[in-house]
Amino acid sequence: MSRVVVTGRIPEAAIEKLRAEHDVDAWQGPESISREELLRRVAGADGIVSLLTERVDAELLDAAGPQLKVVANVAVGYDNIDVPACTERSVIATNTPGVLTDATADIALSLILMATRRLGEGERLIRSGEAWKWGMFFLLGSSLQGKTLGVVGMGGIGQATARRAKAFGMEIVYQSRSEIDPAIAEELGARRVELDELLAISDVVSLHCPYGPATHHLIGAEQLAAMKDSAFLVNTARGPIVDEAALASALRDGVIAGAGLDVYEKEPQVDFGLLGLDNVVLLPHLGSATVETRTAMAMLAADNALAVLSGERPATPIR
Ligand code: DGY
Repeated sequence: MSRVVVTGRIPEAAIEKLRAEHDVDAWQGPESISREELLRRVAGADGIVSLLTERVDAELLDAAGPQLKVVANVAVGYDNIDVPACTERSVIATNTPGVLTDATADIALSLILMATRRLGEGERLIRSGEAWKWGMFFLLGSSLQGKTLGVVGMGGIGQATARRAKAFGMEIVYQSRSEIDPAIAEELGARRVELDELLAISDVVSLHCPYGPATHHLIGAEQLAAMKDSAFLVNTARGPIVDEAALASALRDGVIAGAGLDVYEKEPQVDFGLLGLDNVVLLPHLGSATVETRTAMAMLAADNALAVLSGERPATPIR
């Protein structure tokens, strides 16, 4: 029997699955585990099931010890994990791609609709108790039909967002490290372009690339200035892909028309400049937040940890 540390609360079904084979130490606190407590608890662990709120770096891996075999992240994004540090220590790191694709694409499409149709503004107005009535020019937004969606990062979530946007009548362009499957490109009518062209021609730019040194502040003041002044930016990927202060200035000065954000540069803090702006929709990282999706993520992470601990190949290792 191995020892598995779970760094935060995850669905009980996944804990039970782990407990059926191993000794499980799962953090149950209502708040995130403190760094000190985590460093203490991982000592002697063979496996760690981690949440994106916990940094898995050299210090943590060393605190666990040389017997550690697996770090199973309950997220598709793994910017919280120092993968080279895992590899150096022969620790297999895994993530949860696939199971949260639809939920995250649903949130991207929701943000596109909320931002372009000014739904947050409308909701806030009603709740404020201020007088309002239907008017020909009251809270007019922008239609999606016939407009162009620019998808940055055309992996599974980018494709699922494009598929939804196409159903709303949008044309699709994308920027990606590689061409997508030609059959999918044909189904979506999607054309691959460079980022500069995508920014210049898109009415909505939706970010779906992973975060890392290559994508840090991929969208800054220069890229925002390259967008149409009628365009919208949506980010459901990772906060630091966007220079948040530059975005706040661009939204305030009318450089772009609006934005929808689910993730933040210094999460859970949100740039103060964004909070007072009406043309940005702000969600608290809800991309994968459905009961079904979070359960599937936790079960996949548990399966990955169990596979490695029994000497098998995990379903979704980080490459
Ligand atoms: C992920 O899995 O990376 C998501 O951001 C979690 O919601």
